[in-house]
Amino acid sequence: MSNFSNDKKALDFEIINAKNRVISEDEIRQIAEIEHSAEVKKWLVIHLEDTIEKEYSGYKQFFKDLKKEKEAEVLIARINGIILGFLVLWRLEDYMNHVVSVGISVNPNYWGKGVATQLINSAITLAKGIGVKRLEVETIAENWGMRKAAENAGFKFESTKPKRLFKDGKYYDEVTYYLLIEEN
Ligand SMILES: CC(C)(COP(=O)(O)OP(=O)(O)OC[C@H]1O[C@@H](n2cnc3c(N)ncnc32)[C@H](O)[C@@H]1OP(=O)(O)O)[C@@H](O)C(=O)NCCC(=O)NCCS
Repeated sequence: MSNFSNDKKALDFEIINAKNRVISEDEIRQIAEIEHSAEVKKWLVIHLEDTIEKEYSGYKQFFKDLKKEKEAEVLIARINGIILGFLVLWRLEDYMNHVVSVGISVNPNYWGKGVATQLINSAITLAKGIGVKRLEVETIAENWGMRKAAENAGFKFESTKPKRLFKDGKYYDEVTYYLLIEEN
């Protein structure tokens, strides 16, 4: 069952740059809970911790180190103390250091309300300010929520890579999207 609802009631949330503010333990716990929820895990291909406690301590360390981490940027969508979702920009290495990969997870209770789209729009502004030239999204081909959010924010479809991903005993096609930051 999908949590997606197309209820477009505007959510008046704030977007926080995690490097500019201390992220509280309660907020980190909410982030770990989002990442650990079955609805979100279904779409993630990266390694996830097997317990929520391990997820929480991993994120605690991540946020502790974040300020001096040059390769990562994090934006958090929040309303009245509730974390709606978060986005991570990871810089690629060496000759691709001008490229960032975009990862997002939104609290399943708030899917379909524009949280991902707004996080991506803010990430584009952030990326422009730190010299990024290209943003990339890579996801499971059936992930229409992510595909639509990327398209909403102006990303272009780039490729389908058949059976590139192996997850939970099944092969999946991967799709990639990109957005170039044009020079003015
Ligand atoms: C993918 C994800 C980030 C989208 O977040 P979201 O806040 O619901 O996205 P938005 O509300 O900005 O929706 C973007 C568009 O996709 C549509 N959409 C969202 N979820 C959808 C779904 N499950 N099926 C079909 N369409 C969907 C929305 O209607 C919207 O389209 P619209 O602007 O034409 O109305 C969220 O579903 C999620 O956290 N998924 C699990 C983790 C994940 O897949 N991360 C990406 C891995 S790279």
